[in-house]
Amino acid sequence: MASPCFLLLQPLAASASATSCTNKRRPRRVSCNATPSSRSSTPTGDGEEDMQPRRLDRREVVLVGGLTGAAAANLGLMPALAGDDTEPAATCITAPITDKLIKCVSSSDGFRCPVAYLPEDVIDLASLPGPPPTGGPLRVRRPAHLLDAAYVKKYEAGVRMMKALPDDDPRSFKSQATIHEAYCNFHYKFLTTTPPVDFDVHFSSVFAPWHRMYIYFYERIIGELTNDPAFALPYWNWDSPDGMSLPAIFANPASPLYDAKRNQENVKSTIDLNLGPGKQNDLPLCSSTEDGDSCVKAANLCTVYRQMAVDTAAQFHGDRFCAAGVKAPGSLENAAHTAVHIWTGDPLSANAGEDMGVLGTAARDPVFYSHHSNVDRLWHLWRSTDPGHADFVGDEDWLQTSFVFYDEKRRPVRIRVRDVLEPGNLGYAYEARERLEWLDKRPKPATGIDRPTVKPSDVVSFPLALKNGRKEYLTVKRPEKNGGSKKAPEVLVIDVDIDPCEYAKFDVLVNVPRGQEGKVSPQNSEFAGSFVNLPHGGGDGGMKVGMGRLKLAYRFALRELIEDLRCGGDATLDVTLVPVAGEMVVVDGVRVELLK
Ligand code: C2O
Repeated sequence: MASPCFLLLQPLAASASATSCTNKRRPRRVSCNATPSSRSSTPTGDGEEDMQPRRLDRREVVLVGGLTGAAAANLGLMPALAGDDTEPAATCITAPITDKLIKCVSSSDGFRCPVAYLPEDVIDLASLPGPPPTGGPLRVRRPAHLLDAAYVKKYEAGVRMMKALPDDDPRSFKSQATIHEAYCNFHYKFLTTTPPVDFDVHFSSVFAPWHRMYIYFYERIIGELTNDPAFALPYWNWDSPDGMSLPAIFANPASPLYDAKRNQENVKSTIDLNLGPGKQNDLPLCSSTEDGDSCVKAANLCTVYRQMAVDTAAQFHGDRFCAAGVKAPGSLENAAHTAVHIWTGDPLSANAGEDMGVLGTAARDPVFYSHHSNVDRLWHLWRSTDPGHADFVGDEDWLQTSFVFYDEKRRPVRIRVRDVLEPGNLGYAYEARERLEWLDKRPKPATGIDRPTVKPSDVVSFPLALKNGRKEYLTVKRPEKNGGSKKAPEVLVIDVDIDPCEYAKFDVLVNVPRGQEGKVSPQNSEFAGSFVNLPHGGGDGGMKVGMGRLKLAYRFALRELIEDLRCGGDATLDVTLVPVAGEMVVVDGVRVELLK
């Protein structure tokens, strides 16, 4: 049965047909430039038959040998949502994802998988001496804008040496960047299904641990090449006002830390963690007359606060990986993280850009690793600044998820999520800063809003295709009381259907009367947050055709918003969707749910 708060969620007929990222170039289209030859791809190594990669609907997934039930569960692919016909189908992974389940597949149009390894050579990280696992002192990661000259020299030397290694050395800069491209651009496949299903480390709870593993090995490689086991990857401290610009060490064109493929206009200014692609933004960043720079910084602090003030691991990390069907990214990925990518690499204005701005090429920019060092730090801070915040404690499927990376000694090492929960177990720490400014930047209700007593209500039906410049007004029912006196926190869930090759962004406002949106900024409680997509595609070809559309569910936290707006007694919420880069977004449904 649909729950009473379930609002008109219908499957979208159009999404069943795969779309091509090649044929329809629109003005704001950026990244998915494929040639017809990218339609087929050839696996590396084992001589499997050619495959035509595409995204699948759950009903199309056929397990090898027609397995069902328990056997299918053993392979890790099972429909995750049961019972409710109105909910979109989802094939989510119910077993740990491991190197036994997924495999990189090179493509005939230029993408080559990262350096291969023999399964029998793989060693477990846990079997290496430690902690720290490979011996040596604790490595302390510091803000990139506060490094001394000697440290910068070392960092530059390390990256220069990585760039000088031959491409087939797994420690080379090229190999490292290819790892991200392989894991984020649908080059990994679940080979337990026919046809193979794409795997991607984004849009699920694999995001934080996978990126922690990835930059851990990158850091170890620099330490090895510079002969300094204490080398620690600096972090781009964009959550602190002093760090809200491109760190100078990345802006020197003579440095190996430089990348010309950045948006040259953005990277000279203060970073904007609410930036839409192409500098679009339909809402003001400030509701007062603050000067431009301090206003952007104040809005940034509220944005970081908002992504960190979520109660559960699922809100923060996202849900388990779904092979087909609805993916649910967490706030760590969707909010500031994605904005930093867009700000640095946005190719939609006349100022070049691209590497950081597209998932396929992001790790070709050396600043990527310091950006993700900060994302990693925010994971650590989410847990350490609030005793109520915990990862998926006891979820063995998540904890046993593992990947294989080459380490600094060129050994293929299997590393599990369980191994990476504590930075200390990996031999690194984040320098303690005296003050985390975002910690007390809880947004405040907007002032000057005139609240009419009679609310106009729109009748909105789903699927709802967003249009830039056209706001959508919805009235959404809140769930019935949660049995007892204490209600579980509520979240606003928005189901979206997007083209994964396109930028997408829309802002979400709650209880803002029609026409008064301009009085609300990210500094206000009424601003529930934004949904943002960074395009897939780019890179060395492959997987750009027939990618189809992607269904995502994003949760906007409501607990503090409802407290701040004092609307806990209301039966409904008024929700405004403000498209920023919205032309490719279809909203499948909007509902309020109780957190489990
Ligand atoms: Cu794998 Cu910031 O992305």
